[in-house]
Amino acid sequence: MDLKMIFADVLHEQVLPHWDKEKLYTLIETPKFSHMGDAAFPCFGLAKEQKKAPQAIAAEVSGKVHSPYFASVEAAGPYVNVKFDPVKAGKQIVSMILDQQQQYGTQTFGNDRTVVLDLSSPNIAKPFSMGHLRSTVIGNAIAGIGEKCGFDTVKINYVGDWGTQFGKLMVAYKKWGNEEKVKQNPIAELFTLYKRFHEEAETDPSLDEEGRKAFKLLEDGDAEMVSLWKWFKDESLSAFKEIYTLLGVEFDSYNGEAFFNDKMDEVVELLSEKGLLTGSDGAQVVWMTDDTNLPPCLIKKSDGATLYATRDLAAALYRQREYGFDEALYIVGQEQTVHFKQVKNVLAQMGFEWADHMKHIPFGLYLKGGKKMSTRKGRVILLEEVLREAIALSQQNIESKNPHLPDAEAVAKAVGVGAVIFHDLKNDRLNDIEFSLDHMLTFEGETGPYIQYTNARAHSILRKSNVEAGSFTGLADVESWEVIKQLRLFPEVIARSWTHYSTSILAKYLIETAQHFNRYYGKTKILSGDGDQASRVSLVAAVSIVLTEGLRILGISAPTEM
Ligand code: ARG
Repeated sequence: MDLKMIFADVLHEQVLPHWDKEKLYTLIETPKFSHMGDAAFPCFGLAKEQKKAPQAIAAEVSGKVHSPYFASVEAAGPYVNVKFDPVKAGKQIVSMILDQQQQYGTQTFGNDRTVVLDLSSPNIAKPFSMGHLRSTVIGNAIAGIGEKCGFDTVKINYVGDWGTQFGKLMVAYKKWGNEEKVKQNPIAELFTLYKRFHEEAETDPSLDEEGRKAFKLLEDGDAEMVSLWKWFKDESLSAFKEIYTLLGVEFDSYNGEAFFNDKMDEVVELLSEKGLLTGSDGAQVVWMTDDTNLPPCLIKKSDGATLYATRDLAAALYRQREYGFDEALYIVGQEQTVHFKQVKNVLAQMGFEWADHMKHIPFGLYLKGGKKMSTRKGRVILLEEVLREAIALSQQNIESKNPHLPDAEAVAKAVGVGAVIFHDLKNDRLNDIEFSLDHMLTFEGETGPYIQYTNARAHSILRKSNVEAGSFTGLADVESWEVIKQLRLFPEVIARSWTHYSTSILAKYLIETAQHFNRYYGKTKILSGDGDQASRVSLVAAVSIVLTEGLRILGISAPTEM
């Protein structure tokens, strides 16, 4: 049983038998500052019920509750603050973690409900950008957190495999392309062609017209265009999949934009049946409801071509039908906020209540020299290069620190990739991040490798110990109690991460956990000291369970030796 539950039990039995235990449990808070206590019960509700001041109630209640698990109970304003007893409570927490192993922290409030996540979704004709990296790693981590909370997740890679950029790419390929080169290095080569198109189009406006025509041919099913399109798509996808393998991210579906080409008629018909389509300069639009300040949503261009929004409408309908989602999350940069508001607004006007359960989860940009990195201008950083560089650097690091490490290659990969992923996840999602390879590849301070190293250190202690982890009878020193209190918060951190769709809450928690552990490690003779070695070693095992599981949820692996 967790200690919050013990506190709720005590309150229920000793002062509030007429209140529901579950309700008491949800009311209990964790104080902002640890010197105030480990758990706090706010007395506002009870004060209302008894028509007294909350401060008076807190004083009264604190005089009445007691438990062997509590070291102190104090009223602090309207709160009853409790400090847990390090030995009794510590035993409770550490034993629970050792007992539950990687199940520790698992929540059930998801109740197997389905959450569909739209993540990564790179565009075929363009390179996999740092923005797509953000979507991939943030989306994958949010899925991990959701699963830990008891949701069923469906991860969809809505690949950008349709749109006018294909026309441009085809024109560029036919003018300047080379089959061998594309085969050897599809993403970079297609990107070079794409950049060249835009450079030349600046002085030769007829190119844009050629691009439009080529795309029209593709839309009309022209055999040559279709086969080029398929080829580019296959080559790009297999290159993207190499990146996903490196990142350790898997998807349940790769149904991208083109998958919905034959599914848009239905949407357009529905919209017209419901009287929502309006002609505007030859195009078809849906006006937004009055309570919004949004521009109308373009459904069909004057030449009959459908748009990004049309495809997203068809995709949403399809996903609701196919998966019956309770929630649909779109992990996409904040520059697309208006687009998702429009799509939701249209679906709501169509009468779909589930439109309310679609959420855009935006994130900030990677900046370079304070500026947005644009694909067009070539101010873009290729993720694959970043990952390879990170792995090479961690390989050097490992060779100098531990030249005889078994499986060094796999460890270097885990550390290099972990550095890049964690660097992203520790930031508050909405913040822009200044791109710096140096920062990304720092292995000290608040980084993924720091947590990985700490965890490997814990494993090395466990390997060297001649007593087994498992029996924790209690430790009374300050450092171990700080570690235990931190471990206690893991389930709460998981739940809070889900509520905010936040990866940084968990990432920062893992940093702090590693810091607490390293302080403990610095002060304590874990293996050579006197006294209760089994308890000290058990605490080390509990730390490594939480670090490993926390990293796993974020999509980062935790080598046991480094
Ligand atoms: N391919 C798009 C881009 O790179 C992102 C797609 C996001 N998902 C969606 N359902 N619209 O900008």
